[in-house]
Parts: sequence; structure tokens; C-alpha cells
Amino acid sequence: MKIAFIGGGNMAQALIAGLLRDGIPATSIRVIEVDPDRLAMLRRQFAIDGSTEPDNNLRGTDATVFAVKPQQMREACQQCRPFLDSGFVLTIAAGIPAATVAAWSGREQVVRAMPNTPALVGAGITGISAAAGLAQDARDLAERIMHAAGEVVWFDDESMLDAVTAVSGSGPAYVFFFIEALQDAAEAMGMQPDQARRLSLATFLGAAQLARQSGEPVQLLRERVTSKGGTTAAALEKMRTSRLHESFVDAVFAALERSRELARAFGDSTK
Ligand SMILES: NC(=O)c1ccc[n+]([C@@H]2O[C@H](COP(=O)([O-])OP(=O)(O)OC[C@H]3O[C@@H](n4cnc5c(N)ncnc54)[C@H](OP(=O)(O)O)[C@@H]3O)[C@@H](O)[C@H]2O)c1
Repeated sequence: MKIAFIGGGNMAQALIAGLLRDGIPATSIRVIEVDPDRLAMLRRQFAIDGSTEPDNNLRGTDATVFAVKPQQMREACQQCRPFLDSGFVLTIAAGIPAATVAAWSGREQVVRAMPNTPALVGAGITGISAAAGLAQDARDLAERIMHAAGEVVWFDDESMLDAVTAVSGSGPAYVFFFIEALQDAAEAMGMQPDQARRLSLATFLGAAQLARQSGEPVQLLRERVTSKGGTTAAALEKMRTSRLHESFVDAVFAALERSRELARAFGDSTK
């Protein structure tokens, strides 16, 4: 098996680490990274081979993973194009439609994936979509590559990746926002920053873990910890009257709209 990474930044590094953990041999992975120092670091860290620009070693790959910034995608695809003669392309660049990547790279078989930042610690979740005609073994390999960074959820309709971007792609920032607010409240009540941080982080982690393990609807879990006339009820009542839930849903829709705008802008650049 041959997997090539174009771009050896944060996301590629997380995926390569996960693939090696998963038992893919280092000799099956190659990286093209423009920055020679970074390339040298990847070589040392993972014992993989690579180069600063695409060459004949890219021929015969099963999967070519584009992990560069969206604004670098067109150039990266065009540089690789003369050497891409097999397999499928997997793109994790936010907002760029598969058809655009296909036009730029010259490969028809494109899988598009949207991971999120917790991938950097192996706790990410990726929304992934492939054209209906993609062979099952290619789908399996795409899933295995993204699974290296955490969970994988498939979508039949590529346009749903805009919603994935709004929900789980941008989602870690929403969680950080709420952790920050809880920390601020804790500090305003007199806690030391370290105490506030530990209590807030453990509360988010613990609640998410409880929700996942119990499998029960989160609404039920929330109701169960909210006794009538109690402290939690006082807080939730304040949230209800300030329409926090509705504002939050609106905010996620704003991210969806922005994701669609960016996709439209990139979708026009198929030449
Ligand atoms: N990080 C996340 O949480 C996250 C989440 C979802 C999706 N993504 C997507 O993942 C992609 C990668 O993100 P990242 O955070 O890993 O970016 P990154 O750290 O900037 O990594 C990209 C790397 O590719 C190099 N590069 C640029 N052009 C190249 C080319 N033509 N050939 C070879 N290498 C090239 C860059 O070098 P220079 O720095 O010298 O340009 C950089 O080292 C982005 O498209 C992003 O939208 C990231």
C-alpha cells in the first residue's frame, strides 16, 4: 500500500502518527512538504520518506492526501498533477468542493473529508463524503486514513460537509467558548485560575463522557440533574429567559452560511 501526504503540517502529522499506530508500515507513507526543516523533522519523527516537491515517487499511490491550507490547494494540486496516475485523492481542505479538486488534480476519484482540531490528540471526528462510483476498497482506505484521527461519519451528499464544518469543524471553538465562560464565572466567584480551569475542563469532559457512555438523550440527562427549585434550575431558567439556546443555534447556522459562501467562492475556481 502507498499513501502520499501533500503538506506535512499539523493535520498530516496527526494522521501519519495515527496510521503508524494502526500498523501501517512507515515505508508505505510518503510526504511532500515544501519546508525542508519540517520535512527533516517528519523524517526523523516517523522514519518516513519524502521530498520538498512532487516527483515520480508519487506514481502508483493508492491514496494521495492533500493536507495544505485551502488557499494553497490549487497550486499543490497542479504541482502534483503530472505524477498522479493512480488511486484516489483525499482532501481535507475546508470549503473546496470535490469537483474543484478533481479539476485541479486531474484525478476523478476524490474523497472529501472535514476533520476537527481534536484530531491532533487522536480525539477528532471527521465528516467524509465520496462520489457514489468510488470503489469499496478506496472507501475503506479513506475511512482508515481518517480514522487515524478519531471517529468517522459518512455522508452521501457532499453538500452536508458544510453542515459538518459548522457543527464539528468549528465546534471545538464553541466548546472552548463555553469552557472560558465557566472559568470566568468560577474566577469571579473567587477561585484561582488553576482551580477554575480544572473544574471547568473536568466538567465538560466528564459530562460528555457520561452522555456518550449512558447513550441516553442529553435532554434526559439534563433534566435528571435539574431538581425543581434547585441551583441548576436557577441557572437554566436564566439561560432560557436570555434565549441562549436559540442564539447558539443561530450562531451555528451563521457558520453554515459562511461555509457555503466559501464553498461557492472555491466552486467557481475550477479553471
Ligand atoms: N487544523 C485543523 O484543525 C483542521 C480542521 C479541519 C480541516 N483542516 C484542513 O486541513 C488542512 C491542513 O491544515 P493544517 O492545520 O495541517 O495546515 P498547516 O499546518 O499549515 O499544514 C500545511 C503544510 O503544507 C505545506 N505546504 C503548502 N503548500 C504546499 C505544497 N504545494 N506542497 C507541499 N506542501 C505544501 C505548508 O508549508 P508552509 O507553511 O511553508 O506554507 C505546511 O507545512 C487545511 O486545508 C485545513 O482547512 C484543518
